[in-house]
Amino acid sequence: MRGEGAYLHVADGRHIMDAISSWWVVTHGHCHPHIVSAIQDQAGKLNQIIFAGYTHEPAEELAVQLLQLTPPALEYVFFSDSGSTSVEVALKMALGYWKNIGKQRTRIVVMQHSYHGDTVGAMSVGARGVFNAAYEPLLFDVTPIPFPATGREQDTLSALYSVCREQMPAAFIVEPLILGAGGMLMYPAWVLREMKRICEDWGVLFIADEVMTGWGRTGTLFACEQADVTPDIACNSKGLTGGSLPLAVTLCRADIFEAHYSKDRNLTFFHSSSYTANPLACAAAKANLDLWQSSDARTRVSTLASMQEHAIQPFRADPRFANVRRTGTITALDLKTNDAGYLAGIGPKLQAFFKDRNLLLRPLGNTIYVMPPYCVTAADIDQIYTAIREAADLFA
Ligand SMILES: Cc1ncc(COP(=O)(O)O)c(C=O)c1O
Repeated sequence: MRGEGAYLHVADGRHIMDAISSWWVVTHGHCHPHIVSAIQDQAGKLNQIIFAGYTHEPAEELAVQLLQLTPPALEYVFFSDSGSTSVEVALKMALGYWKNIGKQRTRIVVMQHSYHGDTVGAMSVGARGVFNAAYEPLLFDVTPIPFPATGREQDTLSALYSVCREQMPAAFIVEPLILGAGGMLMYPAWVLREMKRICEDWGVLFIADEVMTGWGRTGTLFACEQADVTPDIACNSKGLTGGSLPLAVTLCRADIFEAHYSKDRNLTFFHSSSYTANPLACAAAKANLDLWQSSDARTRVSTLASMQEHAIQPFRADPRFANVRRTGTITALDLKTNDAGYLAGIGPKLQAFFKDRNLLLRPLGNTIYVMPPYCVTAADIDQIYTAIREAADLFA
């Protein structure tokens, strides 16, 4: 198989359009030449080194470049390898912070329907259900607040306020503007802003999990920008390397870093894995950041957002669909079927239907979503929505 732009060229001669960016990671397109060449260059120089007591240029330069693109209050970068580990790091930073400054705050507040990854800590702060039921004994207790469904936003804010007042939590972790794996559930920027304000009032650390929403997906580089929110801790992965290699970062405020920076080793932030800050992945991420700083990436994002809006518009009036929605470059729509939900039998049927039409779409149950790389054309978008319409003809 060969990947190029929005397409996967398969050995049997088919050209499959990647309409979900291979699980939301590929931003500029498969095998973007600038990223490929950065990886090739780095591979001849240094491809792995222990990242404890040693450092290397791609990691150092990437950290500096990242801080230029993120809010000034986020001053430190911690490397790991996946979205899940970036969340583990964030949770550990939050708990370590409170412990090291001598306060007993350990509870984590989460949003209903969230997904933060597959490791034990990330599962603990995510929605409980079929995916983690078997591991329930390993998961720690958290306090959920309701998802801010349209018209019910105040319930979410009131719940967050009450939890903050009554439980003095350590942190609140949330996916800004869109809950991805939980069903592409979207909520407005003003709710995000209010949630941050409440956390600030109660000194609760605000962790933004931008693993999916980062790198242009919601229309801005990071979703938090739309709410004018600077998180205390931010998680990033997926599009960090443009979707080329696994890498993640967790950014934090200076006081969170300083609470762990001491000659007293009891205060150390103990988290590391063998491939932390792998030089090839850092070089790929640097190349991705170059593209954000110098290419037309932002224009492509707004062009894609407009194309998506134009394409989804007719579905708003189509009675076979519900909750037709868009945030930035992402659209989602629920096909009205007898069995709804993630495990709905319609999910695999739709997936196979789209595959037959050379489209990589992977509905979440009866929720069809479209999240392509930013290099798709108007004709590509047209092809996607024609197939969605045909799917409704067959299954609705
Ligand atoms: C919001 C969010 N957080 C964390 C993760 C976990 O990332 P990974 O699969 O790279 O571990 C995901 C993955 O989909 C995600 O959408």
